[in-house]
Amino acid sequence: MPMSDIELAIIGGTGLYKLAELQDPEAHQPVTHYGALSGPVRVGILDGHRIAFLARHGEGHSLPPHKINYRANLAALQALGARRVLALNTVGGITERFGPRVLACPDQLIDYTWGRISTICEEPGTDVLHVDFGEPYTRSLRHAVVAAAAQANVALVDGGCYGATQGPRLETRAEIARMRRDGCDLVGMTGMPEAGLAREMELDYACLAIVANWAAGAGPDPDEVITLQDVLDNVAAASAGLPALLRAL
Ligand code: HPA
Repeated sequence: MPMSDIELAIIGGTGLYKLAELQDPEAHQPVTHYGALSGPVRVGILDGHRIAFLARHGEGHSLPPHKINYRANLAALQALGARRVLALNTVGGITERFGPRVLACPDQLIDYTWGRISTICEEPGTDVLHVDFGEPYTRSLRHAVVAAAAQANVALVDGGCYGATQGPRLETRAEIARMRRDGCDLVGMTGMPEAGLAREMELDYACLAIVANWAAGAGPDPDEVITLQDVLDNVAAASAGLPALLRAL
């Protein structure tokens, strides 16, 4: 396989462990400078285009957000020839427009994670990079996602601020209230350091967020308990439009 012909790499989040639409997928698990990736990269054809898919948490969802080797995942996709990465992230919704089952393409983020390796400049001897991150997602790829959704007639909120929390526990109501005050619309556990690393690695990167639940205290019933089943049911329902969106993209 030529190394430069992957047109889009997709990283799947919670509830999105494979891309059923991928034809003739081949599994690749390159050894990277950063160690082991989450699992095999499945490279196959979608509507005549070569697409790579990687399940961020592993295909059996065995990796919690803080244990994911984000660097290895991105380095593997890059080594296979990917230049554009679409990150699918399951999230909670904080503000009104971002209720359960909404799809959104955020344009900003705030990083609340800690203790994760968040740069490729760790090793002695590597140059220190201070990449511009004012606009954390690649504008052209974001616009392509928004246009693809419109073309495929899939409802998508254009914009929003993604707050990346440490997890794996969900947040307290006070934490979500603070995130709302900070300007966050969405909350998830895997948006960082992935987006920052992609920028350092010079990969185009955008996030397609799938709202699985109201974040703690954010919905109409402030006492609501968030269950994994609700999360998975809502992701499955909200993902119905994904194949059409990806085809248009
Ligand atoms: N908080 C953080 N991450 C999440 C949530 C949430 O409420 N739902 C899905 N991922």
